[in-house]
Amino acid sequence: MNIKLIKQNEKKIEEDIEIVLIKNLKKVDKKDKEVLKSIDFTKTSKKTFLLLASKKLYVHCRIFKGEELKVLLSNIIRELKQYKFKSIKIALVQENKELSIKDICEGLILGSYVYERYKTKKTNVKCNIFIDIKASKKELKRLELEFKNTRIITSSVNMVRDIVNTTAEDYTPETMSEDARKIAKENDLTCKIYGEDYLQENNMHTMLAVGRASRHESKLIHLHYKPKSKALGKVILVGKGLTYDSGGLSLKPTSGMINMKLDKGGGSAVLGVMNSLRELNYPYEVHGIIGAVENMIGGDAFKPGDVLYAKNKVSIEVRNTDAEGRLVLADCLCYAQDEIKDIDYIFDVATLTGACITALGTYSTGIMGHSDKLKNKMRKASFNSGELVAELPFNSYLKPIINSKIADISNSTGSAGGASILAALFLDRFIKEENKNKWLHLDIAGPSYAESPWGYNSYGATGAGVRLILEFINNLKK
Ligand code: BES
Ligand code: ZN
Ligand code: ZN
Repeated sequence: MNIKLIKQNEKKIEEDIEIVLIKNLKKVDKKDKEVLKSIDFTKTSKKTFLLLASKKLYVHCRIFKGEELKVLLSNIIRELKQYKFKSIKIALVQENKELSIKDICEGLILGSYVYERYKTKKTNVKCNIFIDIKASKKELKRLELEFKNTRIITSSVNMVRDIVNTTAEDYTPETMSEDARKIAKENDLTCKIYGEDYLQENNMHTMLAVGRASRHESKLIHLHYKPKSKALGKVILVGKGLTYDSGGLSLKPTSGMINMKLDKGGGSAVLGVMNSLRELNYPYEVHGIIGAVENMIGGDAFKPGDVLYAKNKVSIEVRNTDAEGRLVLADCLCYAQDEIKDIDYIFDVATLTGACITALGTYSTGIMGHSDKLKNKMRKASFNSGELVAELPFNSYLKPIINSKIADISNSTGSAGGASILAALFLDRFIKEENKNKWLHLDIAGPSYAESPWGYNSYGATGAGVRLILEFINNLKK
């Protein structure tokens, strides 16, 4: 899909169909107005009306911004795509101060995403969309910038969707490393990729253990974005990049395994953010660190009952090999804080626990951490980006539950309840004292993958995390 912003009457567009967004009947073509009036269009609950004679689809919007508009446009573009239109014009005939080009664009671009790599017959047709706006010269400049930035962000979201939708056979830690290298090259980032020898030399035994039974070598990916001007601060993103999670010897049932290519959702979101920063020209230094690992079974697999030592020497009793994400993240968090000094923010992003879906539903990211101020900042980013978040709170009674009888801590506590918070409290043991209030854990197990379509997400990967984190970083300069 090709999408362009045009100024009213500037260019003659030969569109197959025109979508006219209206709040009321003001400024609607005279003839059409009579028809719309006769059916009480703007007074009924009906949202769309097709006027074949004038090749126009009238859309009644309550407001020209927000999630409601995104979902509405997403539904409309999906419907129209079935008719294989080659050129669609979106007309905004009524002037409105609240008009959000960002929301219109997100609805259209995210809503029209399809993943057809494994379909032998492709159905997706190339389509040009023109957004025809009425605005003053000054206003147009602002809208054009908003439009450009939204295109950068949404194309990264769709890139992440492609990555996460790719099967584990086709997407291994090596593939993720290649993607990281490509993103680095295209965006002028530095990129370091470390294999198992490095992990061994640097005592990253918990990450190594998880990938031991896989035929694919585990990779630690480190991308680094430096703004051209002096950086205003430093943000670290650590992503869980489990290219497949079979559960290991604590094997998942088939039903739980089918979608476990999704377990690279956190790491992929980090790739999506790193892919956007240069073009967005963000003034913050950002490090993206990903533990790309496959959790499999085999004679060499790590076992329930093993004791592992993380990079910071904390000993961990493995009680469940399916709680592998926290083991990979533990070493990656240590690596990040050993290698990078003077951190302002450190976030980990992970499809970490099924319990997060149970607690919050499939639509929200669980946010956990020590600083209320930081959580509030993330809530603000959530509101502006349209990605939902909800806090799962720590408390002093939950804290000791992760203690182990034979080691410092254990990676699973059975049926204690509060499993998502316990996972976060596990990660907390790998956050240095000076970084405690700078850290947030984002559990995207729910929103990263849509088992059935919702909002502007089609079936499969949603690209969760990208818009939220970019919005957070963008808000910092304000
Ligand atoms: N990758 C899963 C979490 C998950 C489940 C993400 C469903 C998305 C959808 C994670 O590695 C896992 O298996 N967690 C276990 C932890 C338990 C063994 C303590 C879980 O949530 O059951
Ligand atoms: Zn698991
Ligand atoms: Zn997992």
